[in-house]
Amino acid sequence: MILILHWYFIFTLIPLVLCNHTITTNQIINTLTRALKFFSLHTDQVNLDAGIGTRIVADQLRPYIIYKQGKLVKKLVDLSEYVTWQISQSVRKRQSNYYKQLSFLLMPGTFSNIVPFQFHRNKYKINIETKCSSSIFFEKLSDQCLHTLGYGKCNETESCMILMNDPYACRYSLTHQILYSIIAKKSLCYYQYRLSSLDEYQMISRMFNESQTIARKNFLEIDRDLFMEQIALGGLVGWNEFFQDINWFNKIISWQHPIEGCYGNDTIRIINKREEMQMLHHCLSHRTSVAIAALSQILRYLLSRDI
Ligand SMILES: *[C@@H]1O[C@H](CO)[C@@H](O)[C@H](O)[C@H]1NC(C)=O
Ligand SMILES: *[C@@H]1O[C@H](CO)[C@@H](O)[C@H](O)[C@H]1NC(C)=O
Ligand SMILES: *[C@@H]1O[C@H](CO)[C@@H](O)[C@H](O)[C@H]1NC(C)=O
Ligand SMILES: *[C@@H]1O[C@H](CO)[C@@H](O)[C@H](O)[C@H]1NC(C)=O
Repeated sequence: MILILHWYFIFTLIPLVLCNHTITTNQIINTLTRALKFFSLHTDQVNLDAGIGTRIVADQLRPYIIYKQGKLVKKLVDLSEYVTWQISQSVRKRQSNYYKQLSFLLMPGTFSNIVPFQFHRNKYKINIETKCSSSIFFEKLSDQCLHTLGYGKCNETESCMILMNDPYACRYSLTHQILYSIIAKKSLCYYQYRLSSLDEYQMISRMFNESQTIARKNFLEIDRDLFMEQIALGGLVGWNEFFQDINWFNKIISWQHPIEGCYGNDTIRIINKREEMQMLHHCLSHRTSVAIAALSQILRYLLSRDI
């Protein structure tokens, strides 16, 4: 009887799981391809940030082209590489100062550090601090910090010190702290900005706590851009925790514009924010970019389970 039940479970449960799994992988590839093609057709309307998303796709998925579904993944990587190049050319002409400051982010290899997926929760017995500091997110300071790290100007530490040493950073200030720590690992200034593994754990735990809160509030419109940024970064640092709820994946897929393939929303007005740029059809440049980065990490997660 036990044996029969055993086989019963194998034959009923496993095909379901596998089926779900395959559908999801193809769906993600499809969603990602459509978003990349949208950027490719509209590079005259994007910010440099757009290229960060496409660079993440190319760098992070390249190692997976030798495995199952490698052909599809290779097509995706080639497309991302091409779109990143297009964006880079376009931004160089239209936003030359900004390009000079941050173009290193679009160079091949910036995000090529592949962190295997693992569970990290409860690695340290600490309470997660959810208090938030009141300081708002300064784009200018953030750009300066990234520039310093990217070009190894390790004596110009002020902007990074201010940003990275805030233990109560929340939302975009927090996701950017994690971004600096990823960029710092490739930087000549690493010795200055090296975080202890406890600090890193604390930062990412806090980010995960925010993601869960966003999900509990049923993904408010104002949280979606941030949420996708969190998924992208959670993947870059290899935290399984961000990839356990299929509903999170389905939500991200569902926010894609059904025809254009972009991400955006027509009900909010984003003004005076360089980071965001309204494109045609109510598409948003930054939001489409973080969606692309998040989808690439969802795909990487699914592909790594297959290996
Ligand atoms: C995925 O599998 C679960 C059971 O594991 C099932 O309830 C659900 O309907 C499936 N979803 C899809 C999209 O096939
Ligand atoms: C950092 O060093 C560079 C080159 O050595 C120099 O040009 C620059 O002025 C220095 N910056 C600061 C803030 O000291
Ligand atoms: C976030 O962390 C706080 C403090 O540890 C906890 O009380 C809260 O339930 C967490 N939120 C979620 C959504 O898990
Ligand atoms: C924008 O967000 C609002 C509020 O969540 C929603 O009702 C609307 O359908 C969204 N529009 C688009 C184009 O996604």
